[in-house]
Amino acid sequence: MSSLLIHNIGMLATPEGLEARRGADQGSIRVLENAWIYTENGEIISYGTGNPPITFGEKLDAGGRLVTPGLVDAHTHLIFGGWRQNELAMKIRNVPYLDILAAGGGILSTVKATHAASEEALTEKASAALDEMLAFGTTTCEAKSGYGLCKKEELKQLKVIKKLNKEHPMDVAATFMGAHALPPEFKADRDGYLKLLCEEMIPAVSKQKLAKFCDVFCETGVFTAEESRRILECGKENGLIPKIHADEIDPIGGSQLAGEIGAISAEHLIVCPDAGIESMAKGGTIACLLPATSFYLNSTYAPARKMIEAGVPVALASDFNPGSCPCLNLQLVMNIACLKYRLTPEEVLTGVTLNAAAAIGMAEQVGSIDRAKQADLVIWDAPDLNYLCYRLGSNLAHTVIKKGVIYHGKNH
Ligand code: NIG
Ligand code: FE
Repeated sequence: MSSLLIHNIGMLATPEGLEARRGADQGSIRVLENAWIYTENGEIISYGTGNPPITFGEKLDAGGRLVTPGLVDAHTHLIFGGWRQNELAMKIRNVPYLDILAAGGGILSTVKATHAASEEALTEKASAALDEMLAFGTTTCEAKSGYGLCKKEELKQLKVIKKLNKEHPMDVAATFMGAHALPPEFKADRDGYLKLLCEEMIPAVSKQKLAKFCDVFCETGVFTAEESRRILECGKENGLIPKIHADEIDPIGGSQLAGEIGAISAEHLIVCPDAGIESMAKGGTIACLLPATSFYLNSTYAPARKMIEAGVPVALASDFNPGSCPCLNLQLVMNIACLKYRLTPEEVLTGVTLNAAAAIGMAEQVGSIDRAKQADLVIWDAPDLNYLCYRLGSNLAHTVIKKGVIYHGKNH
């Protein structure tokens, strides 16, 4: 048996429970001072304040620092070939994201680079990104396919995710996103690609158990709400839980659809209309917001406060991808969520832990410091939660613990 006692915790801050927290509950977290946490075999056994009652096993002195659950990044496009630094100059000249895509750049240029990369090369590159995420305090993440856009290449990406989930300490939840863009060869035959998705790709993904979720980019010039409905319903019939990129640039009905079909989460929601918020509240959909993407696209910010007031749980994620957000640092996402969404540090913590875990169906295993959950914890170079959300641009993760094992630590 391996055990670990973390003691001398200045502040322990965590949301509580096994499901997403909504409304006022999003900001109501447990805060303990002078605390300890005891873990065995990668599981949280107990925690408390004052002198720990346990004297045996490995001990880790938190040095009076802040401890939170490991962060959960519920939305990444982790697997891709190449980068897109050439788009920066276009962005600076205000060339719109969808114009770059329509001209065969954007997602489509990453599709080419991803096709050209071997499974081994993609694995190595994504594994390095996971190392970096872990060092920033992320202990669980989601990863989407979507730079394949044909059966063979989409399966290649999903196999990389499966391998990483097995071999890397990070837990990685897989999402099939063959509906990330319309491949150019189907420009004159949209229905042909929908058929390929529904009749070949989705059944193959499901049969090979390569993904838990199915996602669609519901956007002007990409997939309409009706097409998105068809793809997500087909995913559902094949056992894939629906997710949707909705209202990122134009509000074309994605958030309404999310609530109607009971999507586990809707992502982006930058221009989400009131009807979309209502529909998500009714359907029990989590709003997975990506504030670093708003920053990177120089766009407006999702109506996060309205969502919380309407009882929609808000999760926060990086959207790590080579185009609209080449950032995998959730600490920066937390800063932007405070400053631009005007969320409190408590609401933000719930957004990057428990609600993010719920958005990828893992709230019973991770996302909070609760007995019997995985011992996924971060000791921060911060005395309290306010400090973690207030400092900008440093990596404050001091020690990162995944399933009771210490993987990174500046001073270890
Ligand atoms: O979530 N919006 C669609 N997909 C990604 C961007 C992918 C890319 O630009 O390569 C996003 O922002
Ligand atoms: Fe995305």
